[in-house]
Amino acid sequence: MSKLVINGGRRLEGELTPHGAKNSALPLLAATVLSSSPVILDRLPMLTDVEASVAILTHLGCTVHRDGNSVEVIPSAECANSIPEHLMREMRSSIVFLGAVLAKAGSARLCFPGGCELGPRPIDLHLQALRQMGAEIREDGCALHCAAPKGLHGARIALSFPSVGATENVLLAAVLAKGQTVLSNAAKEPEIIDLCTFLNACGARICGAGESVLYIEGVERLIGCRYSVMPDRIEAATFLAAAAVTAGDITLHGLKPSHMTAVLSVFEEAGCTLHIRENSVRLKAPARLSRVGLIRTMPYPGFPTDAQAPIMAMTAVASGTSVIIENIFDSRYKHVCELVRMGANIKTEGRMAVVEGVPCLHGASVCCTDLRGGAALLVAGIAAQGVTQIGRLCHLDRGYAYPEKLLTQLGADIKRIN
Ligand code: UD1
Repeated sequence: MSKLVINGGRRLEGELTPHGAKNSALPLLAATVLSSSPVILDRLPMLTDVEASVAILTHLGCTVHRDGNSVEVIPSAECANSIPEHLMREMRSSIVFLGAVLAKAGSARLCFPGGCELGPRPIDLHLQALRQMGAEIREDGCALHCAAPKGLHGARIALSFPSVGATENVLLAAVLAKGQTVLSNAAKEPEIIDLCTFLNACGARICGAGESVLYIEGVERLIGCRYSVMPDRIEAATFLAAAAVTAGDITLHGLKPSHMTAVLSVFEEAGCTLHIRENSVRLKAPARLSRVGLIRTMPYPGFPTDAQAPIMAMTAVASGTSVIIENIFDSRYKHVCELVRMGANIKTEGRMAVVEGVPCLHGASVCCTDLRGGAALLVAGIAAQGVTQIGRLCHLDRGYAYPEKLLTQLGADIKRIN
């Protein structure tokens, strides 16, 4: 079992470029199924979730060539219509293959997806939307049997919550459906815009990306293109938090600060100085961070739930009391116990966490509880005095590509021990 061993308390300084975004790479890979010719995706991060998506593509009959951070997907004319349970259970976002497979193969057999345990993660909105587009869906225990015997057709769909995954599934199902789909209360996340931009580059006709109403005109077929995955705003937020807890001074290049407004304002509130350019952010942190009044996680453009855990680790060493309200997932405070083992003073009640900042954390042996919880431990370990060992890296490796390499580049003392 691998572990990260961090000798904390080193100041982070320097420059780096975050990877492509995991949450964009996964739906983009699912979308390649719809193309009638090869697609090349660049800036694809080396993550276990990406490997799992590639394994699903291969199972579906696509040929996949990987060359560093680029992947060429050669779709097959005949797409398999089933995804085995072990591949579905690897990650929650395997469910975005549903819309793509149903559209391409006319039917889909798969089971409910896996992923981080963040409380109940239903897919009712995905299924309801696909049913409105003509899919017949039967749930049989954990299995889903979906068919569109007459093909999918456009529909007027209103999501009761702007679910990222449901919006992606509707997009993937609608681009080749007959007629127009109008999706209201769609998610507005930058990753949705990235998916729409890619699909449009392949010949889809989608309007309204980044707004709450999406208009999708079905087309006959999609043609492959070369496309670069957008930068990972959550990985960027994690590195900024790691620099902030060490009174550091780092510059991140190749990212879109406009995607990070809610997170960047939290760093400013904590007393950091930011120099924001179109594609870069420089953060200079004070000797001691200040408290952050109230952070509420919300759908984009609100504060992202995925940045909640690493930012909580940052507030754990700020002066004063910070309050966090988690509005997206029911159970996203599992990392708190581990932070407390490192000396943090955090109390949770329901959706609220109250963080009393302490002057410093101490090293401890801790375990990742989920993907972003692992990121919180990374930030805490960088801040702590002494040695922190982080285990159960399978969670962290789903969303962070070799973070120890990038953090070492910035001056951290961090090693992976296998
Ligand atoms: C995506 C991201 C994840 C992020 C989340 C919220 C990917 C691969 N994952 O997850 O990192 O934390 O957005 O920004 O992009 N819900 C329902 N019914 C549904 C679908 C969702 O009740 O059919 C609920 C969920 O339980 C959750 C909330 O809606 O409470 C948000 O979920 P959603 O936006 O769908 O997140 P994901 O797409 O799973």
